[in-house]
Amino acid sequence: MPAVDGLPVEKTTFERKSEIFKMNEMDLPKQRAAEKALELIRDGQVVGLGTGSTAKFAIEGIARLVREGLSLKGVPTSIATERMARELGIPLIDLNEAGTIDITVDGADEVDPDFNMIKGGGGALTREKLVALASTKRVILVDETKLVSRLGESRLLPIEVLPFARRMSASRLTELGCVANIRLQGETPFVTDNGNSILDCEFGPIDEPGTLEKRIKIIPGVVECGLFIGIADSLVIGFNDRVEVRERPA
Ligand code: 5RP
Repeated sequence: MPAVDGLPVEKTTFERKSEIFKMNEMDLPKQRAAEKALELIRDGQVVGLGTGSTAKFAIEGIARLVREGLSLKGVPTSIATERMARELGIPLIDLNEAGTIDITVDGADEVDPDFNMIKGGGGALTREKLVALASTKRVILVDETKLVSRLGESRLLPIEVLPFARRMSASRLTELGCVANIRLQGETPFVTDNGNSILDCEFGPIDEPGTLEKRIKIIPGVVECGLFIGIADSLVIGFNDRVEVRERPA
């Protein structure tokens, strides 16, 4: 695979996830978590709709609540989610119309013991973070494979950058101690819903994710960073045989 802009390429995150999506045996814990989260949704609420294979189960459940008569409005975090929610008949508004959101349900790639997260495996991190930040309650749905003791243990850190400056952004990110790989879709750079690129950065286990997030966000060309610090309020963890709800440690 040729390098892009002289940067190493990372096709695994996106394409490996597509393969994982097909594995049905992985679905039960995700479904359990999504079903449990539906219990938190009330009539009349504005609901942030996450992106990814776990959020998809929640969206299907929310569509069922709408069919059963609940009056809800959804705020999608990606074009894929918007399309799916529309097809399932969930009334939608955008973030500007919503202003504030009552509750958001979304997935995550990694969650540490303080409920800090890595997100962006599906490339929707910027809209996901904005919707989460506009929400009164943020509920994160995961299976146990997403729980880690330190962020960066099992996943690369996705960072959305302007294509115009991605080489410069990558070089500044490298100075923070990572290998910055450009995410591909097929043979060409992956394009986010905002028209940007993703750099999947290999930091290894991260000691101080809050500090790292601040350093990343001031790099020229960086649009958003996949570190979500202090954002998750509740974690719904699906296992094969049960589901657990945990609240963020004080
Ligand atoms: C998309 C995300 C997803 O929430 C995250 O990748 C988890 O996805 P999945 O539920 O498919 O494992 O951040 O940008």
